[in-house]
Amino acid sequence: MTENSARPVPRARREKPRRVTILGSTGSVGRNTVELVSADRSSYAVEALVAHRNAELLAAQARSLAAKLAVVADDSQYGALKSALSGSGIEAAAGAGAIIEAASRPADWVMAAIVGAAGLAPTLAAVRRGAMVALANKEVLVCAGALVTAEAERCGAQLLPVDSEHNAIFQVFAFEQRAAIERIMLTASGGPFREWSAAQMAQATPEQAVAHPNWRMGAKISVDSATMMNKGLEVIEAQHLFGLASERVEIVVHRQSVVHGLVYYSDGSVLAQLGSPDMRTPIANTLGWPERIGAPSPRLDLAKLGRLDFEAPDVVRFPALRLVRAALASGGGAPTILNAANEVAVAAFLDRRIGFLDIAALVERTLEALPNRRIDRLEDVLDVDGEARATTRRLIGNGLPRAANTG
Ligand SMILES: NC(=O)c1ccc[n+]([C@@H]2O[C@H](COP(=O)([O-])OP(=O)(O)OC[C@H]3O[C@@H](n4cnc5c(N)ncnc54)[C@H](OP(=O)(O)O)[C@@H]3O)[C@@H](O)[C@H]2O)c1
Repeated sequence: MTENSARPVPRARREKPRRVTILGSTGSVGRNTVELVSADRSSYAVEALVAHRNAELLAAQARSLAAKLAVVADDSQYGALKSALSGSGIEAAAGAGAIIEAASRPADWVMAAIVGAAGLAPTLAAVRRGAMVALANKEVLVCAGALVTAEAERCGAQLLPVDSEHNAIFQVFAFEQRAAIERIMLTASGGPFREWSAAQMAQATPEQAVAHPNWRMGAKISVDSATMMNKGLEVIEAQHLFGLASERVEIVVHRQSVVHGLVYYSDGSVLAQLGSPDMRTPIANTLGWPERIGAPSPRLDLAKLGRLDFEAPDVVRFPALRLVRAALASGGGAPTILNAANEVAVAAFLDRRIGFLDIAALVERTLEALPNRRIDRLEDVLDVDGEARATTRRLIGNGLPRAANTG
């Protein structure tokens, strides 16, 4: 990838009240965002809230935040949402078009916290309005990073990273001194299987895979953390957010999840951001940006913590890391294929249709099965994404042989 200047354009002042929209408000990141907004109601006016099918929680959030619009993706939940909002004056809507309409409404700040490539079109709609887009949905940059960052630049949108590692780097990355930046480093907890052998991982259940040692997150990202695909996706995300060649984005395993990201400068200085593992900190950093606002995350007590450990990642036990580097080297639509195959495989694992090690095996097989092609437009992304999903589903349907369970 060519290095570019995907850089923040600091804005002089913060609007008050800030008009906000939360895409994926009922999820893990979404609920944390709602909590922060609820804690300071006078600073925010809520434009729209979006969920997939949890109409009950969505309606409760919309009522408590006096949102103008609430949208469910799943049409079958429209009746439930409408009746839960009756008498409130809050507009209810359903379906993919209504989600894009929600993202297109004039909010200053949009939280993109839908999970997976389903979040791409609405995130792009917010970007094209020139909004401040707090980006939790890393799959958006994985499957269409060049497109989204180019549109952000063209439309004057500000991408604010929510992922804790990228938010950390955003806080210590001197955009005006980027020539002096040698590399950046993302930390990885190593997930629940950090010390498991491949033979043990072959038997891993969904319950074990989602039991992350440090973070409480949605099911998909928790499984991604267990395979370490999450860290691979984050390398792609970082490359696009910071305009760096992927070989300058490194990973170190740090099991305490206290140091989140580091920037290496040419004079030997390394700047890092630390904090307890609590998503309310990076979310608050983007919600208040460019100012800092309060967040109730537990304060870091280094003396109590005593030690911080670091080690190199194991690409043999965690082949997802190797697959991501290979997809980055191929370029074009390869990261889009990788992302789509991974989404389908993770869903199949959570449904107990495949084993844990089959996830990476399916991603690899899908990448091998499909030709690479250029990605220029949203339609290209959607075509490649659809073709990859169909291929992975077919591979699962054909009865993928169990991935080798030794290593
Ligand atoms: N959780 C974290 O700590 C964390 C940290 C860093 C980055 N992220 C990233 O943030 C994103 C969200 O993660 P999460 O853990 O918050 O996920 P989650 O708990 O599974 O929540 C996903 C949210 O997206 C909604 N949704 C799912 N499919 C949708 C669709 N097709 N259309 C519209 N809405 C849809 C869900 O609605 P329903 O509730 O109705 O299903 C829910 O509100 C992911 O991309 C993840 O990688 C998460």
